[in-house]
Amino acid sequence: MRRTSRSFINALKALICVTVIATVANGFSDRPPAGRTGAPGETTCVSCHIGTLNSGAGKVEIEGVPSAYTPNEEFTLIVRVSHPERRRWGFQITALDSQNNPAGTMLAVNTTQTTTINGTGSLTGRTYVEHRAAGTFDGQSNGASWEVKWKAPANDAGRVTFYAAGNAANGNDASSGDSIYTTAVQMASNGPPMIIEPVYKKGKILLEVTGSDIAPGAVLIVTSEALAEAQTFELKLNPPGTKWQVKKKTRSTPGNLLVNDVLPAGSTVTIVVRNPSGMESAPATLTRN
Ligand code: HEC
Repeated sequence: MRRTSRSFINALKALICVTVIATVANGFSDRPPAGRTGAPGETTCVSCHIGTLNSGAGKVEIEGVPSAYTPNEEFTLIVRVSHPERRRWGFQITALDSQNNPAGTMLAVNTTQTTTINGTGSLTGRTYVEHRAAGTFDGQSNGASWEVKWKAPANDAGRVTFYAAGNAANGNDASSGDSIYTTAVQMASNGPPMIIEPVYKKGKILLEVTGSDIAPGAVLIVTSEALAEAQTFELKLNPPGTKWQVKKKTRSTPGNLLVNDVLPAGSTVTIVVRNPSGMESAPATLTRN
């Protein structure tokens, strides 16, 4: 009886030992923890891979993001990490709506090289795809890329942003000496656009980007009692990407008018945004004081 229990304990010890070794060997080059894409409410891989974020000659890119999605549509995206001097690679990606709630579902394509992982705690509901050990392409120079699938939510969730972090690593099997990069790519929905905080400023009409769901190629339509017919202006995302705008020198169709012509001081107009899909926002009023 004593002998049996001793050999049982020895077997148990051996089992624990093997488990610990397996866990250490598995490490973080296989499946890093969730919530490291740099999205709002998240940290990045820099929380362990100490260094300056987004410095040096590398980058992470998300390719294949269409300008707009339709509910339940599935896309294959490519995450690419590159750096001229590095030799091992990793990434993590997620998708959020403009209120920073999880949007749609991230799915792994090659399950040997990549895997899905769920957020926990305050990040519960977020889904991620990230590299596995076989997807670090140990020894490969210049860069690596991975396919990931994104399934759009069943209901229009407005604008969606993909957030990704990438590691251009030195291959030393440790978290030291690596370079971490982040990126964010926006995509509109094919649902109705939204007008957020329209303002007149120095001959321009500006709309907030945060919360808006405007697709590239959208137009802004102005109507008022003073105008014989509706005037349509091109909308552009301004260079830092913080506002949608009708630029100062943009002329309308069909009237060939400027913002100052359709919105003289003291007047109020009605504006609507129309996405290239043909969907229109609810009307909003804009007053020039
Ligand atoms: C909780 C800490 C932690 C976080 C967060 C973390 N890592 Fe790591 N990572 C490690 C450790 C420790 C190692 C080395 C041991 C190993 O290989 O598991 C490592 C190794 C790696 C390697 C191999 C490095 C080399 O030079 O050989 C890659 C690639 C990698 N991680 C990518 C990532 C990416 C991408 C992220 C962010 C999405 C990330 N890691 C987040 C701890 C972390």
